[in-house]
Amino acid sequence: MPAKHKKKHLQDIGLDISSFGKNKTSLRQMSQDKKHHHLTTNEKFIKENTIKLDITYILSSTGDKPFISKTELDDIAPTIIQKHNQLKNSEGDCLDGGIPMLGWLNLPDEITAEKLDDIVSASQELSDNIDVFISLGIGGSYLGIEATFKALTHTFFNQLSRRERGNVPQIYFLGQNTDPDFFRDTLDMLQGKRVGINVISKSGTTTETAIAFRILRDLIEKWAGNRSTEYIYVTTDRVRGALRKLAQQKGYKTFEIPDNVGGRFSVLSDVGLVSLAVAGIDIHEFTAGFQHMKKLLIKDEFWTNPAMIHAAIRHLAYKKGKKIEVVATNSTATYHLARWMQQLFPESEGHNGYGMWVSPSLYSENLHANGQMIQDGERNILETFIRLINHDNILKIPSDPEDLDGLNYLSDKNQDMNFINRLVIDGPAYAHFQGGVPNMIIDIPRRNAFNIGQFYYMMEMSVALSGYLAGHNPFIQPGVEAYKKAMFALAGKPGNENDNKIIIESITNLAHIVI
Ligand code: PA5
Repeated sequence: MPAKHKKKHLQDIGLDISSFGKNKTSLRQMSQDKKHHHLTTNEKFIKENTIKLDITYILSSTGDKPFISKTELDDIAPTIIQKHNQLKNSEGDCLDGGIPMLGWLNLPDEITAEKLDDIVSASQELSDNIDVFISLGIGGSYLGIEATFKALTHTFFNQLSRRERGNVPQIYFLGQNTDPDFFRDTLDMLQGKRVGINVISKSGTTTETAIAFRILRDLIEKWAGNRSTEYIYVTTDRVRGALRKLAQQKGYKTFEIPDNVGGRFSVLSDVGLVSLAVAGIDIHEFTAGFQHMKKLLIKDEFWTNPAMIHAAIRHLAYKKGKKIEVVATNSTATYHLARWMQQLFPESEGHNGYGMWVSPSLYSENLHANGQMIQDGERNILETFIRLINHDNILKIPSDPEDLDGLNYLSDKNQDMNFINRLVIDGPAYAHFQGGVPNMIIDIPRRNAFNIGQFYYMMEMSVALSGYLAGHNPFIQPGVEAYKKAMFALAGKPGNENDNKIIIESITNLAHIVI
């Protein structure tokens, strides 16, 4: 065969990646039918899947004394235990509209297996009849769902076949911004597809979500006519709000957001569970993760309670001038947990001039962007690592007889990419500590729903304690209302005429400087 012809033939075939074996993330998705939550009562499984907090680089010292000493933690422990008791007894500054916003504390034990089964059935009903599912929401009605979905699924989920996705539809998110190009690009993905949506809004009036819903509702009604209600799920307040009213009028299937659970604490309610079940996530295992962490945190024993220790360290670090928390991870899958924290902490802590700015980072990518600043810039940073211990896949580094890139020192010792990817936490943790950035590491053993559930409950408890320690209500966000008020006034929303006049006048009176 002429050489030219042979070459063309090889190009036609393209790359062969079969030597890498099956992608374990896809295999997990494809085995979604055979749910694994029975494992969550198995002692060995629990032992191997309990997240841990490593505070070595907080308590150790580079000079004469550690950044935070054990004595300082011992000293603050009784106060934290007292705040914990206040939370458990529904005391303290926790009211929103007269309701104690502490429902999230007991959600793990209140959700029954039957309730989860019902959510799975309802999700299946929708999932079986659609090609694409869109979860609509913003803030607490969005971030936890996307973070869990990303943590547990293939990076290119929507490009996989339905079988590879675990026989579930493609998943998109809308309503988290009002970027018309992003919206339009997402619409391109829907052409000719059967689309189902879950619109999630506790208040039912959130502009971003409401606009997205209006556009999609219109499209679905034009496509499915009088059967459009089969494709629209609504998750909102039990009785109140525009969305509840609309759902009642149109006859949509509805799910409820408990009165006493705020948006950013709601991922374990219908807010998160319905969309996650559509995506094929094992919501029983997810709930078991919350339950497991709740058991660990319920005790008033400071040194065995990772949420108390986490909250104490953040509080003391803030008092010592650490105003920024870089939350860095070594996994694109768990990066979205850091984004979830970026809402949970600042929205709960940013009151009355208090609060630490949370900056999510993916290492080592970001080390080549802001790593210099962390190592050597202003010493106002605390770092929290989310270290994924076991990735789904192991990637070998091939040997190369020429070794021009000098990497054979790894392949000769059979070291894989996973080995290096653990060091992108271990290396910076040591170097940053030496450079005056105290840090703690949250170890996530592997990508499963049990671990993600634990992580959320631990962080929810930590931020609640943090708000109580700072002396403010961590369950409200009055500051968010200010931007809404200005936006509604500028948009001419009826009912805002007075604000509109004041705001327009105030803007007009500014000395406008545009260069
Ligand atoms: O945590 C919160 O309470 C907020 O981030 C809300 O979740 C967000 O503003 C969305 O609100 P709603 O669900 O009412 O549309």
